[in-house]
Amino acid sequence: MKQAAVLLLAALSPVAAAGDAIDVPLAVAGDAQRGRAVFLQREQGHCVICHAVSGAAPAGDVGPALDGIGARLTAAQLRQRVVDITQVKPDAAMPAFHRTEGLQRVAAAYAGKTLLDAQQVEDLVAYLGGLK
Ligand code: HEC
Repeated sequence: MKQAAVLLLAALSPVAAAGDAIDVPLAVAGDAQRGRAVFLQREQGHCVICHAVSGAAPAGDVGPALDGIGARLTAAQLRQRVVDITQVKPDAAMPAFHRTEGLQRVAAAYAGKTLLDAQQVEDLVAYLGGLK
């Protein structure tokens, strides 16, 4: 039933299929400088362990290089991929950074917590959106 409703919404939506984008920001406007720090720093998102961007070395290559990503994806699409990329690609080898439901084998200290908070997600969206 829920599935049917989602499919119906996807069919009616002229913008994007359900699960491809999160239109509503999770927090106040993001800051690209802070987002860059979240991207690079080990104790934050540490996205660079899997994604290269110009000016960041060393970087991993488990995920695609993200130079130009801001020209290819909208802020809403970027937000979806950071929050929970499995909504876009169910088998993606990237953690869901802002999801608490449906996770398995979570250590007690982390139960109910997301890897990144809402403001960090918005900061990343601002940073990635500027990679044109
Ligand atoms: C463990 C490795 C890993 C980490 C850590 C990781 N990613 Fe990813 N990411 C991937 C992979 C793999 C893909 C490609 C998914 C696919 O399309 O199959 C991806 C895809 C993406 C995409 C979509 C790229 C496109 O071309 O559509 C974005 C945006 C992204 N990641 C951002 C981030 C951000 C921001 C972080 C840090 C908060 C992060 N990733 C952390 C592995 C990772």
